[in-house]
Amino acid sequence: MTRFAFIIHPLSVADIARKHKYFFVRYLPERWVEKLLLPRGPEVVSEITGIRSPTGTTTGGWFVGLPLTARQLVEEPADVCIDKIVRCGELAQELGAEIVGLGAFAAVVADAGITIAQRLDIGVTTGNSYTIATAVEGALEAAALVGLDAAVAPAAVIGASGSIGKACIELLAPSVAELWLAAKPGEDLQPQAEEIATRHAIPVHACDSVDAALSEAQIILAVSAAVQAIIHPDMLRPGAVVCDVARPRDVSRQVVEERPDVLVIEGGAVAVPGNVDFHFDFGFPPRLSYACMAETMILALEGRTEDYSLGRDIKLEQVYEISGLARKHGFKLAGFRCFEKTVTEEQIARVRQVNDE
Ligand SMILES: NC(=O)c1ccc[n+]([C@@H]2O[C@H](COP(=O)([O-])OP(=O)(O)OC[C@H]3O[C@@H](n4cnc5c(N)ncnc54)[C@H](OP(=O)(O)O)[C@@H]3O)[C@@H](O)[C@H]2O)c1
Repeated sequence: MTRFAFIIHPLSVADIARKHKYFFVRYLPERWVEKLLLPRGPEVVSEITGIRSPTGTTTGGWFVGLPLTARQLVEEPADVCIDKIVRCGELAQELGAEIVGLGAFAAVVADAGITIAQRLDIGVTTGNSYTIATAVEGALEAAALVGLDAAVAPAAVIGASGSIGKACIELLAPSVAELWLAAKPGEDLQPQAEEIATRHAIPVHACDSVDAALSEAQIILAVSAAVQAIIHPDMLRPGAVVCDVARPRDVSRQVVEERPDVLVIEGGAVAVPGNVDFHFDFGFPPRLSYACMAETMILALEGRTEDYSLGRDIKLEQVYEISGLARKHGFKLAGFRCFEKTVTEEQIARVRQVNDE
């Protein structure tokens, strides 16, 4: 059996406080808590058991904890972050893993996994290929459910210059009528927009703010690496659908509380075959995982221990390949979720009514 590991980290200090053992950190200033994390080494969080493909192949592995928050992974020097992630990978190797997945911002640091992979003797993946496939599939499915016809509805990608964003644009472009792109303020997306417009023969607009893109779009893929929410209630059009893939989330909780006329779904919730037990609560119901975790499991089931999704130019062939392997091993999109809850028929019907009017 080929075993895997997946590196996870707290998205914020609040994430650490939610764990009972560390409840006291909620009373400390966030920057203090982050300073305390800096000298800490990697740790084994839990063992993952029970993954069984319909082909009969099995795999198992470990969650390895990286003690840095998303903000630290953006703000601390890249070499400090990379050293720590490499130590997590070495721990994974000592445990017996032959491939390791980089969770959340462990995949965002510096060159998106390339240097980390060069420094490790086991395979490395960001899990981004399967994340891209499930994000686009989920966004288009949700759009259809709320009565939006992708062939005429304008779409937006927030985080358009990123590893996930760029490939999502390629997958979305053949299905949508018009595209609006946004990234970090100040990023010049004009050359990218012109190139995509020429290749796909659709209007593509480079926006200098997230707000500008959202004021036009009805189908939105949120895939930024912002450390705080960047999509707020007053920014969205009535009847819009947002597939939020980002961790930490791009969409603020207020959107769900104050805008019943828009549908927010979280990208990348995947049902895992067999009787998987993660022995760790990352906010999903039993037997569901993030797509990036699923990609690591799929590669282990295939015995594929080479490096896979790395860098900011993910090849579409890899996205198609991992989607095929996911089907072979019984992984599939697990319905729609939003802020730890299942999206209800009523929520969908309410947004559909807005679009039918
Ligand atoms: N749900 C899942 O299964 C899953 C799996 C993997 C990753 N993720 C999440 O997906 C997100 C993107 O990952 P990635 O690998 O594509 O990252 P990436 O390659 O670093 O790309 C990030 C993108 O976000 C933009 N960005 C950064 N800060 C921003 C801000 N404040 N406002 C607007 N745009 C901003 C960047 O713009 P610049 O180019 O201008 O910096 C870039 O376009 C992360 O949150 C990650 O944790 C989720």
